Amino acid sequence: MSKSPTNTFPHDEVIAILDFGSQTAQLIARRVREAGAFSVLMAPSVTPDQLRAIRPKGIILSGGPSSVYEPGAPTCDPAILDLGIPVLGICYGMQLACRLMGFTVDRAEQREFGRASLHIKDRSDLFGAIPEKTAVWMSHGDQVQAAGMPAPRAGSSPLPQLHVLASTDTCPLAAIRLDQPGRTFYGVQFHPEVTHTPHGVDILRNFLYEVCKCAGSWKMADFLDTEVRRIRERVGDRGVICGLSGGVDSSVCAALLHRAIGDQLTCVFIDTGLLRKNERELVETTFRDHFRVRLRVIDASEQFLADLNDQTDPQEKRLRIGSRFIRVFEQAERELAGAGVHFLAQGTLYPDVIESGHGHAGQSASIKLHHNVGGLPDDLKFELLEPLRDLFKDEVRKLGEVLGLPDQIIWRHPFPGPGLAVRILGEVTRPKLDLLRECDEILLEEIVANNLYRSTSQVFAVLLPVKSVGVMGDGRTYESCVAIRAVETQDFMTADWARIPFDVLANISNRIINEVRGVNRVVYDISSKPPATIEWE
Ligand code: XMP
Repeated sequence: MSKSPTNTFPHDEVIAILDFGSQTAQLIARRVREAGAFSVLMAPSVTPDQLRAIRPKGIILSGGPSSVYEPGAPTCDPAILDLGIPVLGICYGMQLACRLMGFTVDRAEQREFGRASLHIKDRSDLFGAIPEKTAVWMSHGDQVQAAGMPAPRAGSSPLPQLHVLASTDTCPLAAIRLDQPGRTFYGVQFHPEVTHTPHGVDILRNFLYEVCKCAGSWKMADFLDTEVRRIRERVGDRGVICGLSGGVDSSVCAALLHRAIGDQLTCVFIDTGLLRKNERELVETTFRDHFRVRLRVIDASEQFLADLNDQTDPQEKRLRIGSRFIRVFEQAERELAGAGVHFLAQGTLYPDVIESGHGHAGQSASIKLHHNVGGLPDDLKFELLEPLRDLFKDEVRKLGEVLGLPDQIIWRHPFPGPGLAVRILGEVTRPKLDLLRECDEILLEEIVANNLYRSTSQVFAVLLPVKSVGVMGDGRTYESCVAIRAVETQDFMTADWARIPFDVLANISNRIINEVRGVNRVVYDISSKPPATIEWE
């Protein structure tokens, strides 16, 4: 695969997405990648030269919450429309481009939010093979004005020729093409990236393949080859250290690095004593036995437990765990730095990079390379290596599959850094940890056995700081109470409690009470987030 000198992306075929603050900009980026082209989100302040340098096959202008005619509304350099690269404007992006080209954008007579019926008039390119009538998702109060075709605004070039491709009952210009020499512009007032637009993916595919003439070769196997080469070039013969948590991101990061540089990689796994049952064994078996990675397991459970002694305040518990974690890892870093390690690898993903406000990509002055996603110190002794920083979570999972990681790791529910300590309300002790581990294992066994693991996002047990009266055999008991938490969520920012079938819950409860000594009551948490959080502490 040939690379342009300035393109540091993992793939040649790039679609640039200018993000005007839309809630769905990341979704556009993911849809484009799912359709087979590599996408990158950029700040609207990107210059035409910076864009030209990455040689995008197409440009997408995202939606956004503003009105284009409001003072201070985000804009972009109009010359971006003249690069000879096809542009697709979505909602705000369409309105902005039309305004920059001399059309009027105004408040719509009728706002459109939600489902609308689209009547397609031209099915030659953007709407190729899409039914004449289809549902689309609208969310706009403004629209480009069709009536009377206003005269060009002073100083702007003659208006391009406008073709209406599709309309809804209240939005005559629901989809347009503007033809002008040197410009290819398509605009859609609706949102093709959301699932409520059933043919949205097809419309985006048509833009990529019919309009931008993409080859569609963004595949994980190619990414793996390219990335392995890039890692080897960058690392040379130096050493890399990678913290392993057992979660999917750090595991894929470690497996990828190992594929690239073998024994130059040392992974560090910290046993905090707050892990789930068999967690350490899973990591050891996978990485040391199967992949033959140089793995250093540091058993710091004594220190972590000593720090937690007598602590009941949730914040204080978290703080102590966090600072112990840093100290243990720093100690390992110091030892490895002495042994010639030069890089610290992190499983940072693209959403972390975007959310840290750094955008991609070290391409330019306006879009700076980030140094401290995850809050790393400025005086870090190592150079950072983040081989997953261009990928979304689902792509990381695909990469994990290509690398041969077991499903158990690839589809793992997230597990918080402070581990079981935030699932034991109040003081954390070794006996409580042992008890909770048993409950958690039974719970997960039942969830997996009933095929509920993949349909739920996170499932775990919580040990409550109360005892209640029970009866077992002829005797009265006074024992612990365990709560079961199971949630479904897309992004973990909001979540709903999972509707686990009653008979599965009954089985879980029976097994825990019968098999775990010290528990006589199980309750199910039916709180959504917000107002509750997923974890209890
Ligand atoms: P909450 O409880 O805030 O959790 O609704 C949202 C998601 O974040 C996980 N979580 C953490 N992950 N370190 C982590 O790495 C933490 O301190 C932490 N606290 C919560 C939680 O398990 C859920 O997936």
